[in-house]
Amino acid sequence: MTAVSPGSVSAQTTQKRQSDRTKVLEDRPVNLDGFVEEWPEVGMVALDSAFDPEPSVRVVDGVIVEMDGRARADFDFIDQFIADHAIDVATTEQSMAIPAVEIARMLVDPHVSRDEVIAVTGGLTPAKLLEVMKTMNIVEIMMGIQKMRARRTPANQAHCTSARDNPLQVACEAAEASLRGFSEVETTLGVVRYAPLVAMALQIGSQVGTGGPLTQCALEEATELELGMRGITAYAETISVYGTESVFVDGDDTPWSKAFLAAAYASRGIKMRFTSGTGSEVQMGNAEGRSMLYLEIRCILVAKGAGVQGLQNGSISCIGVPGAVPAGIRAVAAENLVASAVDLECASGNDQSFSHSPMRRTARLLPQMMPGTDFITSGYSATPNYDNMFAGSNVDAEDFDDFNTIQRDLQIDGGLRHVNEAEILAVRRRAGKALQAVFRYLDLPAISDAEIEAAVYAHGSRELIPRDVLEDLKGAQQVMDRNVTGLDLVKALESTGFSDIAENLLAVLRQRVSGDLLHTSAIMTRDLKPLSAVNDRNDYAGPGTGYRPSGARWEEMKRLRHVTSAENPELEVE
Ligand code: 5AD
Ligand code: CA
Repeated sequence: MTAVSPGSVSAQTTQKRQSDRTKVLEDRPVNLDGFVEEWPEVGMVALDSAFDPEPSVRVVDGVIVEMDGRARADFDFIDQFIADHAIDVATTEQSMAIPAVEIARMLVDPHVSRDEVIAVTGGLTPAKLLEVMKTMNIVEIMMGIQKMRARRTPANQAHCTSARDNPLQVACEAAEASLRGFSEVETTLGVVRYAPLVAMALQIGSQVGTGGPLTQCALEEATELELGMRGITAYAETISVYGTESVFVDGDDTPWSKAFLAAAYASRGIKMRFTSGTGSEVQMGNAEGRSMLYLEIRCILVAKGAGVQGLQNGSISCIGVPGAVPAGIRAVAAENLVASAVDLECASGNDQSFSHSPMRRTARLLPQMMPGTDFITSGYSATPNYDNMFAGSNVDAEDFDDFNTIQRDLQIDGGLRHVNEAEILAVRRRAGKALQAVFRYLDLPAISDAEIEAAVYAHGSRELIPRDVLEDLKGAQQVMDRNVTGLDLVKALESTGFSDIAENLLAVLRQRVSGDLLHTSAIMTRDLKPLSAVNDRNDYAGPGTGYRPSGARWEEMKRLRHVTSAENPELEVE
């Protein structure tokens, strides 16, 4: 190419030449992500929309007759449910009179206790809570989460799924996930009819070793409820609520039908929470011109009004939508804060994958991981992402060492720990053997020793010996037809030489009689005790207070795959 002088005609041609730097940037993973401009008319706006209502409330004779600029006669069913069941009528006028920025300061100020904040937030309308969030930057939101999360000790939740719905893989993954520290493990299916076998495998695998994790299987609602009632699962979470009436009705539901379903779970002592998150209404085509966060706050108050103890929120499966607009990830952290601020357990997202960029994935994780939430991720993929039947997660099995290192670097508790390989192989093998024995005891399709060996050492389903799917599906149907229950699993384990697993499982099942898992943020500890916002209240009150990793927990967090020993630099301690 000939040299050109600036300003000449050919200089214009050369302006089209891309710099080598631009080429490098174009090739960066972040540029595979999707970004869109704000479009408030259709709800493609995170939290700052001229179309959101102004906060207001009016009470006459103990009834809210106006909320956020709408008269009671014009309420949709979400307004009505919130006004009648979520907002404290006795305090609302007083709380609404406090300027939004004052309430935001209460959330951040360590001198204002969690209880004092809740006394105010209990009286706020959706538009007011939105106004409060709009005054807070991301660090302030994190400060708020640190104080407002319900349980003092943070925890984490994993996805244990298999691209082949292989129950043996799920049992092994659940055992490893339990050992690594997850307090809840959930599964879902490619082929739904496989569910009974996979849910059983999850339940058994999760109780190997120390045991304690609660399990769930995300399915269509009737089957999910049935598995829960039978004790083949321990909690339910994917009970969706939405922020516009039209989207709610699209799913053939109302706040009342969801509240009824919640009561069905509670009647059997089964832990349950709702799911909602920014972006669902846009994605489902009717945001009624409101911002994502405004609509999500309505969902949060529906959950509150239904009386459920918690909510899985943080956009969840819709994360691509807020992830594409300005301040979207800030809005996602704000929805976690609002859930915590109205005293709900918050399983804070960081589940569905949304970005190709490792930096963006990490940045999206930190607003929950640094302050700590009840469940930092509501679905850490305990498998490689190709096995994740929830459509891939923001963090997966290949990130275990990174995650543990971030915990150690910042001394923040994300609920996980490094475990050496021998221990992992041992629990995977024991889970495989236990499942093999239970299948034999219940006359289900055989699991061979060769299959177990493959599953013990596998990273994912690609390394497994394929199963006879048709036979398995017949077996799955048998489990339903013969009314197999959680107690049958306990009996099977007990009579085949796995009484330690049987005891752990029985301890988890027993909680539903005492109802202890219905308390806000309930999990089971490694010594099989319920831990919740009742016996482990968040007592953060500024520097030097609240939960900080220390003692034995901090010692285990210090361990990584490779750490040089001070006493003997040649030696790596694991
Ligand atoms: N709003 C409501 N429900 C959601 N789910 C996931 N994301 C959302 C959301 N933003 C529920 C759906 C889905 C399951 C994984 O969780 O029920 O099937
Ligand atoms: Ca989840």
